[in-house]
Amino acid sequence: MTLETRLHLLRRLADGRFHSGEDLARDLGVSRAAVWKQLRGLRATFGVDVSAVRGRGYCLREPLDLLDAEGIHDALGEAASAALASLALLETIDSTNSYLLRERFLSPERVAACVAEQQTGGRGRRGRGWVSPFGRNLYLSVSRRFEQPAAALGGLSLAAGVAVASALESEGARGVRLKWPNDLLWDDRKMGGILVEISGEADGPSHVVVGVGIDVGMPRAAGAPIDQPWVDLAEATGGHPPRRSRLAGVVLDRLIDCLARFQTEGLSPFLPAWRSLDATAGRDVTVQVGGALIEGRAQGVADDGSLLVLTESGARRLVGGEVSLRLSAVQRAEQ
Ligand code: BTN
Repeated sequence: MTLETRLHLLRRLADGRFHSGEDLARDLGVSRAAVWKQLRGLRATFGVDVSAVRGRGYCLREPLDLLDAEGIHDALGEAASAALASLALLETIDSTNSYLLRERFLSPERVAACVAEQQTGGRGRRGRGWVSPFGRNLYLSVSRRFEQPAAALGGLSLAAGVAVASALESEGARGVRLKWPNDLLWDDRKMGGILVEISGEADGPSHVVVGVGIDVGMPRAAGAPIDQPWVDLAEATGGHPPRRSRLAGVVLDRLIDCLARFQTEGLSPFLPAWRSLDATAGRDVTVQVGGALIEGRAQGVADDGSLLVLTESGARRLVGGEVSLRLSAVQRAEQ
């Protein structure tokens, strides 16, 4: 059986209801034994658990909210719809960022986007992986051509953080914060991240890909390898996350607007919002820059998007690095 058939089987079961072996076999045009074999393979391929009950058939232990193109388009405003040249809805892909980098879509002022149910090689910042189980979270990328060279686009990753935080707020996650440059936090735990990748000539134009990962309903077991405190949108919305297609559409809408605005106005219109969402300003942080650890008190961002940190040896302005909050003794004891 091909991957396509296995996906078809998964889509039939996504509603979480029981489906008889006969119905599934008829629908897929295979024998009942073949259905049974593939059902057992769903766990290995997609990490989903199937229950079998004699006389009733098969069902997923938890229903899946699968993506649909209509739901995504419905959440787009007029300007974003007009600017969107293509939207690929992918079932399983190595990485949505890699997909758009390979496609090298370069229409000026129009955007190519893709969203996937699963990434097999999801990538995070600083060479990390991004845990991307099937049908649970959001993995979305957009690409656009910019006239500026990569060196002039440094602030774009902060602007994208503001755009995605605003989408999350509007979808019911109150109190989303940003950790420089663009980690999406809720309750000081990571709910999502953004990976900006740029290719092109040294003096422009540039091919920019912005990839957004948001944990929507991360299964505990799948999230176990994540090496920092994390939270999903289900928890941040008190158990009422939006449909994943709606979320994809709203994030896409905000990102398209952000890319157009950044092209003409740069980072400055985004700075007030970034500063009001800053999770670390005034707090003690450790920043890993290359092999070195810099300790100090975060002082917010400069107008060029760099991070300001006051250390014992004076003020530092950082353009790259990984920030972690240093917890007080009381906070450590509570954890
Ligand atoms: C981070 O490390 O915080 C950035 C994570 C970015 C993950 C997203 S998921 C969609 C897109 N495709 C990828 O491979 N990475 C980004």
